[in-house]
Amino acid sequence: MNTKNMKIGILGTGTVGRSLAGKLTELGHDVVIGTRDVASTLAESKPNSFGEPPFSAWQEQNHNLPLGTFEKAALHGELVINATRGTVSLDALHLAGAKNLNGKVILDIANELDFSKGMPPRSLAKDEESLGERIQKAFPKTRVVKSLNTMRANVMVNPTAIANGDHTVFVSGNDAEAKRAVVDLLQSFGWKDIIDLGDITSARGTEMLLPIWLRLWGTLGTPDFNFKIVHNLKSRK
Ligand SMILES: NC(=O)c1ccc[n+]([C@@H]2O[C@H](COP(=O)([O-])OP(=O)(O)OC[C@H]3O[C@@H](n4cnc5c(N)ncnc54)[C@H](OP(=O)(O)O)[C@@H]3O)[C@@H](O)[C@H]2O)c1
Repeated sequence: MNTKNMKIGILGTGTVGRSLAGKLTELGHDVVIGTRDVASTLAESKPNSFGEPPFSAWQEQNHNLPLGTFEKAALHGELVINATRGTVSLDALHLAGAKNLNGKVILDIANELDFSKGMPPRSLAKDEESLGERIQKAFPKTRVVKSLNTMRANVMVNPTAIANGDHTVFVSGNDAEAKRAVVDLLQSFGWKDIIDLGDITSARGTEMLLPIWLRLWGTLGTPDFNFKIVHNLKSRK
């Protein structure tokens, strides 16, 4: 799969969708961002609950990147990124439509978090079935790769901002070619230490890292950190 100048659909207008859209565009990819309702997303006039500017203000500062429905973004992408709220990602992907996703790589970045009882949110991840697996099961003709869900959005696209990029990102997925395409994208962002954890069931491991990530955020007082896996192996397969 050629990963240069790709058409990429990004489902999600939050900080992850925006960060990925900005970086991928800078790298020469042709991006469409997806949302449930274009008019209402463009009509937002106040910062969201995380203090980010309304989408239209962000868009003006970011090459007026195109915004469409989830369906339009999925149709556009050769590769589709799931950057929607994890608890409703399956709903978002159903709105995008199986016919627009079939045969495509889905890079799934979502985490299932329950914010209803305040901060830190409660992770709903379980060692029985990950969100990545549920997406793969619900859309069997897609090739789901879980990655980038274990760090903050700005670190995802700018790994060298921390420890000169000497830290780890994981990939999980059933399809070797799809994982290679995601690894190519990660390398283009500057990632060097990329660990292939195995098939999509291994996404249980990365989704279950969230409780410790959230507590580190509280303890360190900053979200600008990441995990680094150390070992004595000279090379990995
Ligand atoms: N924030 C981070 O740094 C970070 C780091 C690692 C992983 N993640 C994960 O990445 C994903 C995106 O995070 P985020 O902070 O950028 O944004 P978010 O607020 O978690 O999700 C925003 C997106 O979810 C969609 N959405 C919300 N409710 C929906 C519903 N009922 N049906 C369909 N879609 C719905 C929104 O659609 P509309 O556009 O229509 O509003 C929006 O596009 C999440 O799963 C998060 O856990 C985030």
